[in-house]
Amino acid sequence: MTTRLTEDEKAMLRGDRGEAVQFAMETVVRVARGFDAEELVEVVSVHAMAMYGDLHDAGLDLLERLHRLGGRCCVPTTQDPASMSFTHWQRMGVPAAYADKQFRLARLAEALGEHPLWSCTPYDAGNAPAYGQNVAWAESSAVSFANSVLGARTNRTPAGLAICAALTGRMPKVGLYRPEHRVARVKVVVDAGELTALDYHTLGILIGRRLGTEIPALVGIPTNVTRDDLKSLGAAAAASGAVALYHVIGVTPEACRADPFGGQPPREEFQVTRGDLETTVRELQTAHPGPVDLVVVGCPHYSLGEVRRLAGLLRGRRVAPGKALWVYTSGEVERQAAAEGLLATLDAAGAEVLAQTCAVMSPLPKRFRTLMTDSGKYASYLPSEHGVELVYGGIDACVQAVAALQEGIGA
Ligand code: F3S
Repeated sequence: MTTRLTEDEKAMLRGDRGEAVQFAMETVVRVARGFDAEELVEVVSVHAMAMYGDLHDAGLDLLERLHRLGGRCCVPTTQDPASMSFTHWQRMGVPAAYADKQFRLARLAEALGEHPLWSCTPYDAGNAPAYGQNVAWAESSAVSFANSVLGARTNRTPAGLAICAALTGRMPKVGLYRPEHRVARVKVVVDAGELTALDYHTLGILIGRRLGTEIPALVGIPTNVTRDDLKSLGAAAAASGAVALYHVIGVTPEACRADPFGGQPPREEFQVTRGDLETTVRELQTAHPGPVDLVVVGCPHYSLGEVRRLAGLLRGRRVAPGKALWVYTSGEVERQAAAEGLLATLDAAGAEVLAQTCAVMSPLPKRFRTLMTDSGKYASYLPSEHGVELVYGGIDACVQAVAALQEGIGA
């Protein structure tokens, strides 16, 4: 099928806006033709990648080429976390050659006009599209949030295509940009009593494993569910499967405006019980965990609310000698937490805040043998990425595992 182009798009393809835009438009159009797209869509924002651990030298070469050709983002563009802390990389044991490449990527991203956000939760820091808007986002947890919670539209955009979208403001109109592809096929009845923060992560893992790329509509989620809980659910379902959109009846915007099944009966229906959640928790843990020596939280990046809760739990406690507690978040939340005095509380307790970097991509010193996390996404990636023992549990249990009460301070 021939992809129909507007005059503006033809001008980009001819090179009227420079060689970088021409290269990017050629890429977008080639992908559009490969997927039989009738036309392109305009995107209002891009969430790209400049994480060396994902892009490697090929990504560095692409960004260098686009910069050399005079490329510049034409829509607001942010990027996922870096694969090391920009401030603590030496202390974290990152080799200098690796750090050099991550810094080069950072300079290129800024030179191309990206806003240096370095977070997987761009919607908490200014890059939050409105209902029905098209965006081109490249982080699976953010894609899930944009589609499901905000009602914006994006596919899971490959990193190379995301930067082309940033330069052209266009993407092929395929997949979730088309309303008919956003209809739920599977009904998930959640019948597990009151749900904790950890339950939402676990529910996401279970749904992703069972559904792969299918779109579910969930029944039984309370209407007072928080954004953080929906973030956790979506991130876990995108990691254990490839769920890019879910609906929650009575909660998420598309499911509140219309029948998420598009007037058709669901093709499949299943129930999630308390027993199913408990089984999934057991399955996520590795077989032979020892005493927990490291807790990692903030995958996806912790929100200010999550940092507040953690600070409350740590008041009067101190991370025990030989143990560690790492908190991943965005630079924006780090600033807000500092202003509220929360960072001082975390610091006094011996917790370490790692902003603008990724929990999974961060190097793990060999001295840590058993990790604990409250993140379903992290739990599903961790043993394969780092080969360590894993305990998966709620934030209260995480804190208790590594931080002891300090006598005389008061809990
Ligand atoms: Fe964010 Fe890295 Fe987890 S990008 S969602 S901290 S895997």
